[in-house]
Amino acid sequence: MTQAEHIILTTRKKRKRQLIFKIISAIYTTLITALLLYIIIHTGFPIPANNNTVTPTPTPEQNMSNESEDSFLSESIDKNGKFVALTYDDGPSNYTSYLLDTLEEHNARATFFIIGNRADKFRDTIKRMDSLHMEISSHTFGHDVLTKLDEAGIKDTMNKTDEALIEIIGRGADLMRPVEGALNDSVQSFITKPIIRWNVDTMDWKLQDTQAIVDHVLENVTDGCIILMHDIYPTTIEASKILIPKLQEMGYQLVTVTELAQARNVELLPGEIYRNFPSLEQKLSKIIE
Ligand code: NI
Repeated sequence: MTQAEHIILTTRKKRKRQLIFKIISAIYTTLITALLLYIIIHTGFPIPANNNTVTPTPTPEQNMSNESEDSFLSESIDKNGKFVALTYDDGPSNYTSYLLDTLEEHNARATFFIIGNRADKFRDTIKRMDSLHMEISSHTFGHDVLTKLDEAGIKDTMNKTDEALIEIIGRGADLMRPVEGALNDSVQSFITKPIIRWNVDTMDWKLQDTQAIVDHVLENVTDGCIILMHDIYPTTIEASKILIPKLQEMGYQLVTVTELAQARNVELLPGEIYRNFPSLEQKLSKIIE
């Protein structure tokens, strides 16, 4: 073999090796992209949370309560439509029954994150929430900031709220929302209900201005959003009176948080944090961006 022939042969070998390497890389890239897409479509975007690393196992009770809600979902909801979950914290209050009137009038539902120590005073309001298929959830027993409590304190404030509700409607809270949104890994590990945050904050407690609350919601509403309000201010109740029919006119179905999760095929797990439930189209358009 001449020197020239030897060089040609070595170059060919190199090219062949490069080609094989390129084919293998392409196969890897395709597989990884497919896997990522699969994960995104089936589990949703990972939710940014405060050092959220805890993944507790679902308990049998939670699965049972989810199943009982399923039958209700199928009756009244167009799964392919648009959704909003209105949520109200810190009640019940003397104003809550007016809000229930509006919700009932428009066949709308909402989720109430109640303060456990108010339950007894507002037994009738809570019973009415239940009969109107509102979602009744926990905002601790005494509006307690969970990051300031130890394990026993956290379990106590959660259990006492459940006990108060069981006494009135025969079951505990479906979901929970931490006071001030305050959470850390250790608090999260003691929570045995799905943890619900929000992605539209009306700032109604600060604004206390009906039109400003309405405007804020209409400017920020998106399909699958969770809106935070408080049913302890007359301005919030008045704003809801305008917003509920308005959002329905805009094509939004007003559902509970659990119904919204079910419509978007998300299983709510105890100790996990959720802030909204975008549609598949919204998720995909975010990837393309
Ligand atoms: Ni609160």
